[in-house]
Amino acid sequence: MSTRFESKTVIVTGAAGALGATVSRRLASEGVSNLVLADMNAAALGPISDELGAAEINVVAEALDVTDGDGFDSLVARTAERFGTLDALVNSAGIVSPNARIHNLSTADWERSFAVNSTGTFHGIRAVARTMRKRATVSIVNVASVSGMTAWAYAAPYCASKAAVVHLTRVAALEYAKEGIRVNAVCPGTFPSALHEGLPAEALAAIEAKHPLGFGTPDDIAGAIAYLASDDSRWVTGHSLVVDGGYSLP
Ligand SMILES: NC(=O)c1ccc[n+]([C@@H]2O[C@H](COP(=O)([O-])OP(=O)(O)OC[C@H]3O[C@@H](n4cnc5c(N)ncnc54)[C@H](O)[C@@H]3O)[C@@H](O)[C@H]2O)c1
Repeated sequence: MSTRFESKTVIVTGAAGALGATVSRRLASEGVSNLVLADMNAAALGPISDELGAAEINVVAEALDVTDGDGFDSLVARTAERFGTLDALVNSAGIVSPNARIHNLSTADWERSFAVNSTGTFHGIRAVARTMRKRATVSIVNVASVSGMTAWAYAAPYCASKAAVVHLTRVAALEYAKEGIRVNAVCPGTFPSALHEGLPAEALAAIEAKHPLGFGTPDDIAGAIAYLASDDSRWVTGHSLVVDGGYSLP
């Protein structure tokens, strides 16, 4: 097994969720030394924190609402101080919007998706830039979505807020390339998680049918995130890597 994260310090947001927890396990399996698990739902971090803490990794569980920019600044600064540096940030926190057409959406529905998915990612990039630029090499991996590249009816706030992440990734990559910070994104297709709770079985089956390789799993995305977070991708920046089981092919 690779040890490419040995002696590295990584922050994962949304770490209590399906993808965040799986990425955290992946980093642990590749030797990460210091892992900061951040989630708005701090109580839900218990199981993953206990599991990885038993593996002789320095695991810190942190309550973080990514819509709180000051809170994100503070988390990144405290992490860099505690462990001496920061090597990677994985911005996995995210929410879906109500399953509704545009004329039935409230302004609050629209703003909530942007607050978490887009502004939350902006806060993460900004926090890393404020603390780490010109100080160390850092890789930021944003979790966008294939819906940020293809149009989905009934999901305008989610799609648009993820498209913003794709473009923000490019702008941030350009701004910080000369200051040691790489910024990339992954655009997953669908892997069933809490985000799909309440969707009827027929709706899920219809979504799966649009993926030539069928539904993915969080593990299918974690490998791509680990690549972008690691030095293996040291000459890659501003890229949005589609990992979607062929969803976007037609
Ligand atoms: N599941 C999919 O099919 C899919 C597809 C494409 C992209 N994504 C993206 O992958 C990421 C992870 O999704 P998942 O499927 O693991 O969902 P999940 O619901 O299992 O995990 C999301 C996590 O984010 C946390 N979170 C939500 N709002 C937050 C906030 N304001 N601050 C901090 N934490 C917050 C939640 O508490 C949860 O633990 C999301 O960004 C999602 O949009 C998921």
